[in-house]
Order: sequence, then C-alpha cells, then structure tokens
Amino acid sequence: MDHPGAADFVPPTRSLTVLADAVRGCRGCDLYRDADQAVFGAGPRSARIMLVGEQPGDREDRAGQPFVGPAGRLLDKALDAASVDRTQVYVTNAVKHFKFTERGKRRIHQKPSRTEVVACRPWLLAELAAVAPDTLVLMGATAAQSLLGNDFRLTAHRREVLALPDAEVLALPDAEMPSLPDAPAPDVVVTIHPSAVLRGPDDSRAEAFDSLVEDLRFAAGLRTGT
Ligand code: URA
Ligand code: SF4
Repeated sequence: MDHPGAADFVPPTRSLTVLADAVRGCRGCDLYRDADQAVFGAGPRSARIMLVGEQPGDREDRAGQPFVGPAGRLLDKALDAASVDRTQVYVTNAVKHFKFTERGKRRIHQKPSRTEVVACRPWLLAELAAVAPDTLVLMGATAAQSLLGNDFRLTAHRREVLALPDAEVLALPDAEMPSLPDAPAPDVVVTIHPSAVLRGPDDSRAEAFDSLVEDLRFAAGLRTGT
C-alpha cells in the first residue's frame, strides 16, 4: 500500500496534548495496523532535554507510554547515574507504533524500515517544535538517522556537539517545523540505545552502560545554568 507519511495527520499546533491525541488516528504508514496503540512522547513541554529512542517495544505498546519496559528501566538507571531527573526530560521515539513479528505468544521487535522512519518523522518534528529543547539526545542509529541522515554513523560522533541539518537538507516543508526558525537550534548529541546495553555481550555490558551514562552527563552539562 501507499505510504503517505504522517504529515497530513499532524495538526498545526504546539500543544503536546493535542498532538498526542491526534497520533492515535495516524495512518501514515502500515505500522498502526498491528500495534495496540500509538505511543507518543512523555514529559513536560518545559523540558530542556529531549531524548529520542527507536520505537515503542512490547511493554510500551501495551502501556501507551515510552520507555516503561526493560530498556526504560535501564534508561532510568543511566539517567539517575548521570544525575538527570527523568521527570524533567521529554522522552520519545523516532517511530510511534511498535513493529514486531509474532513467535508463538511473544511479539519480537523488528527494526523499522527507512520508509517508516521517514513517514513518522513529522511527529518527531512536531514534538521538537513544541518542546524546543536546548539539548536533543538521539539514542541509537534509528533516531540519529531519522534527523541526521541515513548515512550518519553514530559511533564516529559520540560526545560531539552536533546540529540539526537545515529543513531543506532534510527535504522538509516548513510546515513540518513550525517553530524551529524562531526557536534556538538545539545542541544535538548522539549515544547508544539503552537496548544495546541490554543486548550486548555480558562482559562488555558494564562498559556500555558507563559510556551511556557518560554521554548523558555530557549532554546534560552542555547548557547548565541557562
Ligand atoms: N525502545 C525504544 O526505543 N523506545 C521505547 O520506548 C522502548 C524501547
Ligand atoms: Fe503514523 Fe508513525 Fe504510526 Fe506510521 S508509525 S502510522 S507514521 S504514527
């Protein structure tokens, strides 16, 4: 079927409540068909830091909230270790519906395709416009590539301060980024996805966790005092 993308479903508003309500009706790609529900971001609009993951997992799909399953617990621990208060950050995903295959009773995560990531990007941009964070943390390749391009390799850019490309570079109509021209551009930082820590080999888990904590601490320290 056609993939019209989410743009036609995103209302022109900076209200997170209105956006979160509208995402439930999104038909911008096929992923809404099998998922229980769309999972929008969570956190205060006043958040100075916005974190972006890949897509909701099994637990998030059931709960309707981002990062509430195993990856979420790991993220909570990492934020805590980095002295970042999760209630003060806005947490969301590059893709709002859970993509999976069924194996018996289990629903196994599947990586969203580039087409699905691009289709869903208008929601992420709407959240970015609404929250206008100082610092944007892209966790994992899917989030990083959604906003920094398909060729972006995050391992080469950890602990660097990056910037979002111009809207034209992302080939986005201005309508998708209503507030970005007048909002200060966020500092962009990339890091590994919390699930990468969980899935990694036992002997390198502690190291991976520590590196995630260091990246979060780095991100949180960029605009302290503002
Ligand atoms: N993984 C993600 O990328 N996001 C979630 O919300 C949960 C797991
Ligand atoms: Fe819409 Fe994104 Fe869900 Fe696709 S994954 S239907 S674009 S909200």
